[in-house]
Amino acid sequence: MRVLYVAAEAAPLVKVGGLGDVAGSLPLALKRLGVDVRVAIPWYPEIDVQRWKVHEEGNVGVTTLGESDVPVYLLAREVFAETGEHKAIAGTKEEEAWFSGFSDCVVAFLKDSRWKPEIFHGNDWHVARALTALEETSAETLSAWGYTEKNFATILTIHNLSYHSKMLRDAILASDVINAVSPTYAKEILTPEFCEGLCKELGLRKDDLYGVLNGIDYGVWSPETDEKLTAKYTTVTWKTGKTHNKMAVRQQVGLSEDGGMLLGFVGRIDANQKGIGVLVEAMNRLVTLGCQVVVLGTGDPRYEKRLATVATRYPKQVACVLRYDETLAHRIYAGADALLIPSKFEPCGLIQLIGMRYGTLAIARAVGGLSDTIRDGETGFLFTAYSSSGLVGAVERAKGMFSSEPVQWEVMVGRAMREDFSWDRSAGEYVKLYDRAIEKSRRS
Ligand code: GLC
Repeated sequence: MRVLYVAAEAAPLVKVGGLGDVAGSLPLALKRLGVDVRVAIPWYPEIDVQRWKVHEEGNVGVTTLGESDVPVYLLAREVFAETGEHKAIAGTKEEEAWFSGFSDCVVAFLKDSRWKPEIFHGNDWHVARALTALEETSAETLSAWGYTEKNFATILTIHNLSYHSKMLRDAILASDVINAVSPTYAKEILTPEFCEGLCKELGLRKDDLYGVLNGIDYGVWSPETDEKLTAKYTTVTWKTGKTHNKMAVRQQVGLSEDGGMLLGFVGRIDANQKGIGVLVEAMNRLVTLGCQVVVLGTGDPRYEKRLATVATRYPKQVACVLRYDETLAHRIYAGADALLIPSKFEPCGLIQLIGMRYGTLAIARAVGGLSDTIRDGETGFLFTAYSSSGLVGAVERAKGMFSSEPVQWEVMVGRAMREDFSWDRSAGEYVKLYDRAIEKSRRS
């Protein structure tokens, strides 16, 4: 099976968020299943052409996904030439123009390429216009390009409806099959609270809407092999390993070294999705409970400022590092005792999966992929109310166990570390979806 996987970002070439992680790791797992998968992303000026040995074929840049042999096509260099730093999640109008340009180049690529994919797999609003354009292309034209309905189908994966959702409207109607990145999010987006104004369109496509849980790449995310940690560890040595990493984090961010339970927040400083407002409001009470909190991320300047103010008030208990720092992120995943994830909505969420692998339990709101992956009281702590008291209540439960029932806590950590959220678990589901999409395209 031949699949063209198209996204706005793919790690390690370029990444701003979870989409980049997924686009950088799912194709590797598909390849292991024998799929001839190739990736297409925009040719951003920031992509290091020397490091990734990019060569040019016509106006297309060709490289591979990191060290793997999965081919990556870099498209639309002219469109992105002036964009400077990649800011595909800022939500500006300008982005819509860039990604429309990208979509046009993707369609041109399909036309001109000698390699003809059977599946066009588009991710999020960035490629919506390409999906719609393909639907609008006549059967004659498609066949002149080398495709027929027997050997060509489209699939749209929704990672997050909240940005530029209107651009998705037509793509939702046009794609042969649609999926969201967790079973619960696939159900949530049919309801007014989560559908971002697209309830009607999603409702019409409900029979073709699936939920496939994301995985993570344990080649990157494993405390046994992670070079960014100050001490590596296994399911057996995690306690000493965590103690080392915790000390290193505290020293690096300036927290006192004798300060109890360490809670981490890593992610976008975003009050709309990530619940940063809830976290800021909860901060005083978390400190009163005797916890330390380290926050790492960038985003909304108003909330960055509020976080900085709290950190100044409690210099030994709260640290806010307002930048993108992959190494520190790894160290927090390893060194924190628990991760705070108070999201308002969370299509899948990857950091709870990383946390579990590193023996760091999630304290998370029971929405989307968080409720699909965390078992309350067994592999983490879930809460329902989207409020600071909801979050504080769950932290109290976790802290109670951490301080008074250490054996119970260790059992939970061991259980969480042994969970399997590798892509090998979910990649097979995508192959099934591809088959469904082909079948659907033949019938329609
Ligand atoms: C988006 C979602 C996040 C998901 C990621 C990868 O960033 O907000 O929940 O894990 O995409 O699918």
